[in-house]
Amino acid sequence: MTKVYSSAPLPFQGQKRLFIKDFKEVLKRFNNITTVVDLFGGSGLLSHVTKRERPDLRVVYNDYDYFCNRLANVATTNEILAQIRPILNVVAPNKKVPAELRAQILAIIAEYDNDGYVDYITLGSSLLFSGKWIKSFSELAKETMYNVIKRSDYEVTGYLDGLEIVHGDYKELFEQFRDDKDTLFLIDPPYLSTDACSYENYWKLSDYLDILKLLVGIKYIYFTSNKSQVVELCEWIDANNCIGNPFKEAEMRTRQNMLNYHASFTDIMMVKE
Ligand SMILES: C[S@@+](CC[C@H](N)C(=O)[O-])C[C@H]1O[C@@H](n2cnc3c(N)ncnc32)[C@H](O)[C@@H]1O
Repeated sequence: MTKVYSSAPLPFQGQKRLFIKDFKEVLKRFNNITTVVDLFGGSGLLSHVTKRERPDLRVVYNDYDYFCNRLANVATTNEILAQIRPILNVVAPNKKVPAELRAQILAIIAEYDNDGYVDYITLGSSLLFSGKWIKSFSELAKETMYNVIKRSDYEVTGYLDGLEIVHGDYKELFEQFRDDKDTLFLIDPPYLSTDACSYENYWKLSDYLDILKLLVGIKYIYFTSNKSQVVELCEWIDANNCIGNPFKEAEMRTRQNMLNYHASFTDIMMVKE
């Protein structure tokens, strides 16, 4: 039987795990579509859920970050973690890893690094304090390590099944489908003012505003957070009679996202049929 994932099978910052229930619910409403284009696919979670919920639809997953490479290398990631687990047996969960054990762990990883691909994001989530995202050996070597290792192997079988995978800038992909009235766009751009260091690049306000121009006249499910204040901005624009508010008559749903024990922010989903 085909497995249905309710979260990305490998750690991914900003995945819309908490919205899956709402997302499934609103997806049902789009009866008159043939295609779903996930412009900012990230971990591919929304594409995956879409294809499982609606196998009849063509689902295009824009894998800008090459998440597929991390999935393809999961056996190596599991192998590295299997070598690290016995070393961490003497360290209590969530406690700091002593210097000599840390050195042993770095030596294991360095060897794999010399040989080829290492998924530092996944290893980081087993060795670093939650919320730390690293992408290279040099970044890992600077960090204090904690025993937060996952007890079992990562399992990714079938996750990308049925998806059409592309890799590119969202603008080009949007151009290909913009005139197709039977397309629903999933629009989940990088966060504006939160830590986005594990993504390929950093988004400034003008990048964020460019997205708003796309929303006019299309079917979309758009995600943002209260940190970007983009919904508030559009309400202001509407009140001030400029371009109009692209979120007018769109439905808003929210979810509380815990960054760590002290900090949280609100994720927002906007739906326009
Ligand atoms: C908030 S995440 C998407 C998360 C995704 N919905 C999920 O559930 O995993 C935004 C993604 O957009 C990617 N991105 C950044 N610039 C991009 C661009 N110009 N075109 C397409 N994707 C881009 C980021 O690297 C990141 O993976």
